[in-house]
Amino acid sequence: MADFNSVYWSIFIGSVTLVSIVVLIWFVWSQAKARPPLDADNPETMGHKWDGNLEEYNNPLPRWWMNLFYLTLFWSIGYLIAYPGLGAFKGLLGWSQVSQYEAEVAAAEAEYGPLYEQYQKTDIPTLAQNEEVLEMGHNLFASYCTQCHGSDAGGARGFPNLTDDAWLYGSTPEAIEHSILKGRAGVMPAWVAVIGEDGAQKAADYVEHLAGRDIAADKVEAGKQTYNQVCVACHGAEGKGNPMLGAPNLTDDAWLYGGTRTAIVESIVKGRNGQMPAHEEFLGPAKVHVLAAYVYSFTQGNKPTR
Ligand code: HEC
Ligand code: HEC
Repeated sequence: MADFNSVYWSIFIGSVTLVSIVVLIWFVWSQAKARPPLDADNPETMGHKWDGNLEEYNNPLPRWWMNLFYLTLFWSIGYLIAYPGLGAFKGLLGWSQVSQYEAEVAAAEAEYGPLYEQYQKTDIPTLAQNEEVLEMGHNLFASYCTQCHGSDAGGARGFPNLTDDAWLYGSTPEAIEHSILKGRAGVMPAWVAVIGEDGAQKAADYVEHLAGRDIAADKVEAGKQTYNQVCVACHGAEGKGNPMLGAPNLTDDAWLYGGTRTAIVESIVKGRNGQMPAHEEFLGPAKVHVLAAYVYSFTQGNKPTR
């Protein structure tokens, strides 16, 4: 990479560009030169023939056409003086994608800044009642969250549904805002090295029992022992989970990684590591506050569709 940042490449590419333009100007000019007057009886042709007697005369291009070529060539020179394009030369206007982006951000900041500032002072439950805030939240969610949580916020395998009653980290305004600001990392260790395949099957029996499925009493008893040794610390004595750790409730119908026997065994054997990225730096606390109000509104009956 360092090579491409050196002055040498900048000069090389700049020179190639300039030489190309000069050669093109010379070429267009050479084609525009008037030829000796055409001999009406025996005109010079290009030697192609179509349909027997249709031939192509070797005439110069019309003047207006040549002028268009000149215009584009001189335009390109003007462009390269004004805008970046010649190697590393930045152009006299000082335009750059970054400066344009920054100007647009500053304009948006001036327009929405005061509004966000006001929202930031308002608590999340109040904001969650405000149609304007929900509209903004909806747009932010569509830009930054749908790729993982889905456009209906309904989630996908490994990405939690934000519209149901099952919350890994709790459904309070504070918990939701914290999830978005700081991110979350769910740590479910892989247990196969500790309890073996057999232990995983036993634990799975107990998880299915917790989920309300029909499991033979002796299997439940055996599974419970394993569960109480290794799982209880995070998923709790009743299997209701722990929002401090993001350990899911195993007794409900909501499954982050799927509720089939195979998926449950896989969760236990291989472990799971869901990552919710932190958005504090990226979006800033004001936008996160609006997003938190939007997500919180789902717990208050608001629907993600609008
Ligand atoms: C160190 C804490 C911890 C321990 C101990 C633990 N788990 Fe977990 N478990 C978690 C976390 C956290 C998640 C969620 C992972 C994620 O968010 O990606 C999870 C996820 C799961 C899931 C997937 C749930 C779903 O909704 O798809 C199952 C099943 C599960 N654990 C069962 C067990 C069993 C059985 C044991 C004991 C063998 C166990 N866990 C031990 C923390 C733990
Ligand atoms: C790269 C994928 C990804 C993106 C982008 C993402 N999330 Fe997440 N989010 C996750 C995952 C994965 C989890 C679950 C973490 C875990 O397993 O512990 C999560 C968890 C959450 C939670 C906690 C859910 C609970 O049950 O407690 C909230 C709230 C949340 N995300 C909101 C958002 C919002 C709002 C955005 C947009 C700013 C967003 N997420 C963007 C992947 C993502």
